[in-house]
Amino acid sequence: MVTRFTSIVRRFSLPRMDTHAALAALQWQIELGATEVIADKPLNRFNAPKAAAHAAVAPATTAPALADPVAEARHAADSAPDLESLRAAMAAFPHCELRKGARTLVFADGMPGARVMIVGEAPGRDEDRQGLPFVGRAGQLLDQMFTAIGLKRHAEEAPTAFYITNVLPWRPPENRDPTPEEIAMLLPFVQRHVALAAPDIVVPMGNISCQALLGQKGITRLRGTWREVLGRPALPMFHPAYLLRNPAAKRTAWHDLLELRSKLDGGTA
Ligand code: URA
Repeated sequence: MVTRFTSIVRRFSLPRMDTHAALAALQWQIELGATEVIADKPLNRFNAPKAAAHAAVAPATTAPALADPVAEARHAADSAPDLESLRAAMAAFPHCELRKGARTLVFADGMPGARVMIVGEAPGRDEDRQGLPFVGRAGQLLDQMFTAIGLKRHAEEAPTAFYITNVLPWRPPENRDPTPEEIAMLLPFVQRHVALAAPDIVVPMGNISCQALLGQKGITRLRGTWREVLGRPALPMFHPAYLLRNPAAKRTAWHDLLELRSKLDGGTA
C-alpha cells in the first residue's frame, strides 16, 4: 500500500503544472492511500539506479529467499549478547515488510536495568519520526501516569526509572494493527529484549502486547491481573491511546498503577 508521497504541489518542482492539475494529482495520490509528505521534490524511482531507489526508506538490506523467517529471527535475537547487539540484529533483519514503509527503527527509551519495563504495540507517526517509543500524545499521558507513581523514563536512578519498548520496532502503514505473522516474526526480538533488560516487572500495554507476550487477547479482562512473561511478573494495563479515547477508563488505570506501585514496594500480588 502507498502511504507516503513526494509533494507535487510545489510550483518550483513542477513549474508548468497549474494549480487545478496539481490538486487533481494530489487527490489521486491520496486516493491511492498516501498519507504523508516525505520530500519537497518529486523523485522518479523508475529512473533511479536500482540500489539507490529505495535507500531513503529501506536502507541496505534485501531479503534473500528464506524458508523460515521466524526461525531466523529467533536465531538472530538469541545470538545478541546485549541490547546494542540486539538493536543491530533488528536493524539487519530483512524479512519484515514493515521496515520498508518506516523511517526509523524504534528500539527503546528510558533506563535499561529499570525495575519496570513497559511493552507497547508499535510506533506511530511521531515515534517513527523521532526514533523513540511513546513520544506522541499517548506517550505524554503514559509519562504522566507513571510519574504519578514515582517512575520516570529519564530518571537518574534505576529504582525511579522505567524502560520502554514496543512489540514492533517499525510503524505499520496508517497505524494499522500488525498481522499475526508480523507479530510472530518479531516476537523473538521483543522476548530477547525483555530477557536482556531483565526488569523485575513487565507491563504489557494494550491488546497487541498481551497477544504477543501472553498469547492472549482481551485487555479488559486481563488488565490489572498478575500474569507471567518469561518467568517475570507481568501486569497488563490499558494502552494510554485507549485512555485518551475513553477517559472513564482512567479510573481503572489508576487502580492498576497503584497495584504496580504496591508490588514494587514489596506488597504481594
Ligand atoms: N503506541 C504504542 O503502542 N507505542 C508507541 O511507541 C506509540 C504509541
